[in-house]
Amino acid sequence: MLLGQDGLVEGAGSEDGISESLELLQIEVDWESPERESLPTGAAACCSKNVQRKQKHWEKIVAAKKSKRKQEKERRKASHAGHTASCPQHSKRFLRALTKERLLKAKDSGPRLCIDLSMTDHMSKKELSRLAGQIRRLYGSNKKADRPFWICLAGFATDSPLYTECVRMNDGFSSYVLDLTEEDCFSLFPLSTLVYLTPDSEHALEDVDPNKVYILGGLVDESVQKKVTFQKAREHSVQTARLPIQEYMVRRQNEKNYHSEILAINQVFDILSTYFETRSWPEALKKGVSPGKGYVLQNSVG
Ligand SMILES: C[S@@+](CC[C@H](N)C(=O)[O-])C[C@H]1O[C@@H](n2cnc3c(N)ncnc32)[C@H](O)[C@@H]1O
Repeated sequence: MLLGQDGLVEGAGSEDGISESLELLQIEVDWESPERESLPTGAAACCSKNVQRKQKHWEKIVAAKKSKRKQEKERRKASHAGHTASCPQHSKRFLRALTKERLLKAKDSGPRLCIDLSMTDHMSKKELSRLAGQIRRLYGSNKKADRPFWICLAGFATDSPLYTECVRMNDGFSSYVLDLTEEDCFSLFPLSTLVYLTPDSEHALEDVDPNKVYILGGLVDESVQKKVTFQKAREHSVQTARLPIQEYMVRRQNEKNYHSEILAINQVFDILSTYFETRSWPEALKKGVSPGKGYVLQNSVG
């Protein structure tokens, strides 16, 4: 009898099918049995019939075993696919990869948004916390967008109190998919590509151009430091624009008679992002200008 190291039949030659069957069943057969050689012809024929019958039987068993293995393999495959779909860990990882891919695409194709964080020196801890929260909301919106912007946090030192606040308040801040640099936004891009968004501009923004870089002032001051970004843009001879609130909205009567076109950076971003996806200023402004600002869309006034 010829057995391999693992006890399987070797060198069965013409009995390939049988040897495979036997290998699967791990049955040892004495093909070259000396007793068989010495048997009389009738007995040999009877034995060979017996072997054939046994062979058929084994083949049936092997076929059944093979099919069972195949079924088991398919069952495992199906269960793994189901597990992948229902397992939040898996789908989360997959979605994260998709989001990253979309964000990185915007780095090449635009549009680009730069947040000018070079004016945070005199901000209180409370203001820094509010700004950090707005950066988190802005980044969160961008991640969900079908056509995200590439974001750059400029004038942002990693040893600044704002950075510490962002890391403290914003989960996973250090792995945000964006550019972060100490350099000033005016030295990062050609000046002709920059549009500084500021509520004090005399020009209303008409369109979002993927070839431009839109700058938002990293400020939460609202009323205290008026025209800061407008003056800064002027000093660098950079184009400015305000959101077209006056063009598409009207003042709504309210008890406090309060009306403001000054929005937080995440609200401005929601408007830009919605406009870029829908090409509709009314839709975009409706989304970003909260009722508290005292403005409603022109056609919604009865
Ligand atoms: C809270 S505001 C700060 C306003 C501040 N007085 C200034 O000088 O920009 C934060 C930033 O959001 C953007 N922003 C807010 N309202 C805007 C508007 N109506 N149009 C364009 N940009 C606006 C500007 O980039 C602004 O710097």
